[in-house]
Amino acid sequence: MSARIATALAHPNIALAKYWGKRPGPGNFPAVPSLSVTLAGLATRTTVVFDDALENDALVLNGEVAEGEASARAVQLLDRVRAASGRKSKARVTSANDFPTASGLASSASGFGALALAATTAAGMDADAAWVSDLARRSSASAARSLFGGFVELAAGPVHPRGDEVLAAVPLAPPSHFDIVVLVCVTTEGAKATASTDGMKITAAESPYYAAWLAEAPRLCAHLKEALLAGDLERTFALAERSALAMHASALAAGVSYFRGATLEALREVHALRAKGHVAYATMDAGPHVKVLVPRSEADAVAKAMAEVPGVLRILRAVPGEGARVEP
Ligand code: PMV
Repeated sequence: MSARIATALAHPNIALAKYWGKRPGPGNFPAVPSLSVTLAGLATRTTVVFDDALENDALVLNGEVAEGEASARAVQLLDRVRAASGRKSKARVTSANDFPTASGLASSASGFGALALAATTAAGMDADAAWVSDLARRSSASAARSLFGGFVELAAGPVHPRGDEVLAAVPLAPPSHFDIVVLVCVTTEGAKATASTDGMKITAAESPYYAAWLAEAPRLCAHLKEALLAGDLERTFALAERSALAMHASALAAGVSYFRGATLEALREVHALRAKGHVAYATMDAGPHVKVLVPRSEADAVAKAMAEVPGVLRILRAVPGEGARVEP
C-alpha cells in the first residue's frame, strides 16, 4: 500500500453489438451482452492522488470543478476502492479528454476506465484487470470494455443480481484483427442528448419493443462474435448496423430519439454508398452522430462522401487501439 498517486490513460470504445438496458436490481448490470472496439488516438488521462489533508474528494474534469451526477458517480467508485484497499484518505482527481466532448464519442467509457485504473493503482492495490474492469462497469457498463484493447465483449449480468457479483469485460481479438477505420461524422455541436442511463430507463419502462430488443440483442451479439472470430469483416459490420438500428428502434418507440435531420441524411448516404459497391456500415450511440465502419482501403472515399452530407460538420478518424494503461 505504498503508492499514493497514479495516472492512467484509457481510450473510448464503440459498441458494435450495443448494450442498452440494465438488469433490474443493484450493481449496474447490463441486460444484454455487448461487443466493442477500443479506439486509438483519442484518450482520457486521469490522475488520482490520495491525500490525508483532504476533507472531501475533489474532482476536476477538463479543467472545471465537477459537481452533481458526474462527481457523485466518481465518488462512489473511489468509495469502492477505499473499501477494498483499506485506504481511508480522500482523493484529488484530475481528468482530461484529448478529444472534444461533443465529438459523439462517449467520454464515460474512457473516463471511468481511466479513473478505475488510476484509483486502484494510487491506492496501492494489486488488482487484476478483471477486477478493475468490474469496478469501471459499476459506474458505466461501457467503461468495463475500455480497460482492454482491440475487440472486447461484455456479457449480460445475472438475471436477478444481488449486486456483488463480478462481471468484467473480456478481450476477444487484438486491434490488428481487422484493418478498419471508424469515421465519426459529427452532426451537431454540443447538443445535449438524453443521458444513456435515462434513455435506457425510459425505453425499459415505456417501449413496446423493449422485450423484442432484449430477445434480439443477444442473438445479434452472438452472430457478430462468430463473424468477428471467423474474420468476416463485412458480416461483422452488417450485424453492427443491425444492432444499432434495433437499439434505436426500441428507444424511439418510447419517444427517446437521438436522431437529428443530419443523422438521417448521413444514414441515407451510408446506404447509398453501399448501393454503389462500397463496404460501409453505420452505427450510432446515445447521440445524433453517425459512426461509419469501413475497411481502411475505403476510408478516404467514404470520408469524402460523408463530408459532403448536409449537416455533417466534420469527420474524426479512429482505428482500433490498445487497452487502458498506467502512465509512468
Ligand atoms: O455505459 P453507458 O452508460 O455509457 O452506456 C452506453 C450505451 C451505448 O453507448 C449507447 C451503447 C454501448 O454499448 O456503448
